[in-house]
Amino acid sequence: MKITVMPGDGIGPEVTAQAVKVLQAVVGGGQAMELAYADIGAAGIEAAGDPLPVATREIARKADAILFGAAGMPGDEAIPFMMRPGASLLRLRKELGLFANFRPAFLFPELIGASTLKPEVIEGLDLLILRELTGDVYFGEPRGTGVNAAGEREAFNTMRYSEPEVERIAHVAFRTARMRHRKLCSVDKANVLEVMQLWREVVTRVGAEYPDVELTHLFVDAAAMQLMRAPKQFDVIVTGNIFGDILSDAAAMLTGSIGMLPSASMAAGTFGLYEPVHGTAPDIAGKNLANPLAAILSMAMMLRFSFGQAANAERVEQAVRRVLADGLRTGDIFQPGSTRVGTEEMGAAVVAALDKA
Ligand code: IPM
Ligand code: MG
Repeated sequence: MKITVMPGDGIGPEVTAQAVKVLQAVVGGGQAMELAYADIGAAGIEAAGDPLPVATREIARKADAILFGAAGMPGDEAIPFMMRPGASLLRLRKELGLFANFRPAFLFPELIGASTLKPEVIEGLDLLILRELTGDVYFGEPRGTGVNAAGEREAFNTMRYSEPEVERIAHVAFRTARMRHRKLCSVDKANVLEVMQLWREVVTRVGAEYPDVELTHLFVDAAAMQLMRAPKQFDVIVTGNIFGDILSDAAAMLTGSIGMLPSASMAAGTFGLYEPVHGTAPDIAGKNLANPLAAILSMAMMLRFSFGQAANAERVEQAVRRVLADGLRTGDIFQPGSTRVGTEEMGAAVVAALDKA
């Protein structure tokens, strides 16, 4: 198991350290595991003058999987795109062909009170957003800023998808739905955008190969509303890059805290980058306050997707449930009556719970 660890910025290093701690405990000494550390984001600029240093790219290519913390820093927008710490992740996704982004939103029963939604709306919630990650307006050309014919400053980006790009994410979506409850909702904006008409057409055509999966379509505005109104109607949602970015943050809040949510960004085979959804959280960085459970659960996804270790992945997930059932909470999921713990204590508790689970 060759794993590249990219702790990155903000709370990234703290939560990643806990994920590595749990990884070492669950895999044990029996399996050969090679961990290599690489700089990314502001940490990359500091080490090598580039948010995605050449050395980091080389280490990443040699790995079977990447454990990623977070990248970015306040004021990022002011820096040119290629040098921006936050953009290092976008470059990495593109360079490594990580086109399929799995973002599960799963409610741990113990956290039902932490959500802002009524318990009956979210009880038993278990949905998955599959976000296309290397196309769309994020990468579409042309893009830029300039001056229009009237002499006014303007800026533009291009929403773009090719047929093969939609096809390959659609196949992943249908195969994923097959492993779950066989329901797939494709989210687009086909009522307004040509690119989304193509999206709908291609997803529908691919769907003919999966007659056992129930396919529905929603426009993204309606999907946002339905996610808040009745989220349990969804099993798998497949959507483009920018709609997936937005909807997955909304879905995260259904589960109480974005601090709980893992993700996997997969290339065509078993190579993947595993990352908590939450980001750098600079306001609490370095204070032992961050919730490491999203990073730990991302590591469990790595065991399952890149290394075929479903049993170990389950042990980790059970251990997380166990610490929640024992009432341990970081600040983001704290509820009166529970026990407040820091990042390190939470990681240690998960390690201890591995044996009890
Ligand atoms: C995400 C993040 C990134 C994105 C940012 C940090 C570039 O919001 O992974 O959802 O927009 O994809
Ligand atoms: Mg986002």
